[in-house]
Amino acid sequence: MIKHLRSAADLDAATATLILDTAGEMAALSGREVKKLPALRGRTVVNLFYEDSTRTRISFEAAAKRLSADVINFSAKGSSVSKGESLKDTALTLQAMGADAVVIRHSASGAPHRLANWVDGSVVNAGDGTHEHPTQALLDAYTMRSRLGRLDGLKVAIVGDVLHSRVARSNVLLLTTLGAQVTLVGPPTLIPLDVAAALAEKTQVSYDLDAVLPDSDVVMMLRVQTERMQDSYFPSAREYSRRYGLDVARMKKLPEHAIVMHPGPMNRGMEIAPEVADSPRSTIVEQVANGVSVRMAVLYLLLGGK
Ligand code: NCD
Repeated sequence: MIKHLRSAADLDAATATLILDTAGEMAALSGREVKKLPALRGRTVVNLFYEDSTRTRISFEAAAKRLSADVINFSAKGSSVSKGESLKDTALTLQAMGADAVVIRHSASGAPHRLANWVDGSVVNAGDGTHEHPTQALLDAYTMRSRLGRLDGLKVAIVGDVLHSRVARSNVLLLTTLGAQVTLVGPPTLIPLDVAAALAEKTQVSYDLDAVLPDSDVVMMLRVQTERMQDSYFPSAREYSRRYGLDVARMKKLPEHAIVMHPGPMNRGMEIAPEVADSPRSTIVEQVANGVSVRMAVLYLLLGGK
């Protein structure tokens, strides 16, 4: 088993499949009255969050607790980070406290890689800048597999702000490893040529959502990440939504069996219409529930739980 999960590229098909299968066993537990397993009793998991998070943070905390680990939640706000303490000094503090695993979310791409040099425990990337978010890709793959029965040969459209999306990058890496066919869809400004070129071996690119929908098994809508945008990438929110938003009329172009995904948080009315987000095809709430099982599997396998 790998020691760290910093990138979806750390996972070969066998390891990724093992994580998904283990997540399935973990999910079976959540139906029981007592949801706890003693697997990580006496181990310490630190959640080190430098960027805002709702789902990911709660999910990692729930996952570690269900495995009986001791959980320490650290948020940059209100810590010595606001006094200017560096990531390295924070890491050395965690090391001194004996963290067996550190789950890190940071605005700097590559922060988990640096951290892994400074701590002995396992490092799990919970989102680094615009780079990667491997456990999101795992929970997305898990959700697709449980809804559609397979990943191999599945046609997945990832739509919207690809440029700023760590979710998209990790999904491309993982899904292609597992045999799915990925098409990136969005305005040219949000799928720049260098990104398209870097991913070209693995994916297709389209600027026309309406053309891609009829041939997709999965459509994954991405949040428009205005907080990461320094320029104007499209004329207006309304214009964006008209071309790349998933509304009810567009959803009807999907095949009968196709599902609609979104990692959250959503801009309802912009990249996704409320009626679509709340429709039976949407897996958005399921994705959150599956996130806990997948993160349990990741922590369990990385820490060699018994
Ligand atoms: C994503 C993230 O933070 O990268 N959300 C998540 O983890 N569920 C996507 C986003 O912020 O748009």
